[in-house]
Amino acid sequence: MGDYSQFVSKISSVKPDKGSISCSSPSNIALVKYWGKRPVQLPENPSISFTLDICKTETTLQYEKLENASEDFQFELFFEGEPKPDFKPKIQSFFQRISEYIPFLKHYKFIIDTSNTFPHSSGIASSASGMSALAYCLMQLDKQINPTITEEEYIQKTSFLSRLGSGSASRSIEGPITVWGKHKEVAESSDAYAIKFPYDVHPNFTNYQDTILLVDKGEKQVSSSVGHDLMHGHPFSSERFKQANENIIRLKDILMSGDLDGFIEVVESEALTLHAMMMTSLPYFVLMKPNTLSVINKIWEYRKETGSKICFTLDAGANVHILYPDSEKDGVMDFIKSELVVYCQKGQYICDKIGLGAKLL
Ligand code: PMV
Repeated sequence: MGDYSQFVSKISSVKPDKGSISCSSPSNIALVKYWGKRPVQLPENPSISFTLDICKTETTLQYEKLENASEDFQFELFFEGEPKPDFKPKIQSFFQRISEYIPFLKHYKFIIDTSNTFPHSSGIASSASGMSALAYCLMQLDKQINPTITEEEYIQKTSFLSRLGSGSASRSIEGPITVWGKHKEVAESSDAYAIKFPYDVHPNFTNYQDTILLVDKGEKQVSSSVGHDLMHGHPFSSERFKQANENIIRLKDILMSGDLDGFIEVVESEALTLHAMMMTSLPYFVLMKPNTLSVINKIWEYRKETGSKICFTLDAGANVHILYPDSEKDGVMDFIKSELVVYCQKGQYICDKIGLGAKLL
């Protein structure tokens, strides 16, 4: 379980009466994937991701101090301007998990107003951006109540709280590249929170592009909590966790040396392994759609014909993230428009790139 007492806020008598905090926090795309967890929300293997720039959640947190601390958490939730009762249980359990670290939660009534910059139900995971945005707003309030917290402690604790909302959310607070999960060859890495990749990154990865093809915008077939659970007792899980640890070392070297061919190999293999784990679990799932495979084959053809360093990765769904160096932007965009848009639902895709993490608005 670990001792996380350093993240428990000191009880302070200073509590602002009312106010409002707005922030944005991006989604992220894992290069080495996190799939499999143990209580509470700790990863079975370390992961590494690109923080995104365009796909993000914007959240406003209004707070008002109560006369007396209440028994329950008091909050209202709006998504894109409309009340959203189906999101409430998730926020309720998030509050329960984090209240030991931010004890002021029951002293306030909150109104949470949240919206995404990416299309609603696009199949893009919104839990990473949504949970990290809320954690970021709450930590701004925590900072007002406990102003002695240092910037470093503040960032760590924000990632720590985000993780308790959704594991991958821990990786959205900073950018452009973050690591979550303890690995002996990544200095200062931790299972409890994500850190910024702590080594110099080769200029080949500056401004790396991610164009997300919306192949299937339907509801997720498998929720990520069910997916993580399927790794318990999975026949290949221990080998998978070992492989992820090895891929972290490989990717660390690749990011430092700028080896784009190595990058392609690790990233595509990680995406296919994530899907292979789901195809070989019980129950089993195929999360790709025929168009996902068509896109993958087209990418491989294009790479062979042109020598491009384009590659793909996948989340736990059918959409395809196309990753490529900034220097190839024009050529790859032509390729996407002429060859790949036909595989997207309603021709939709999102042009994103690596970004710097959560910020105040
Ligand atoms: O943060 P969760 O519990 O939604 O899990 C995310 C898992 C993947 O997106 C499939 C992989 C990852 O590392 O982000």
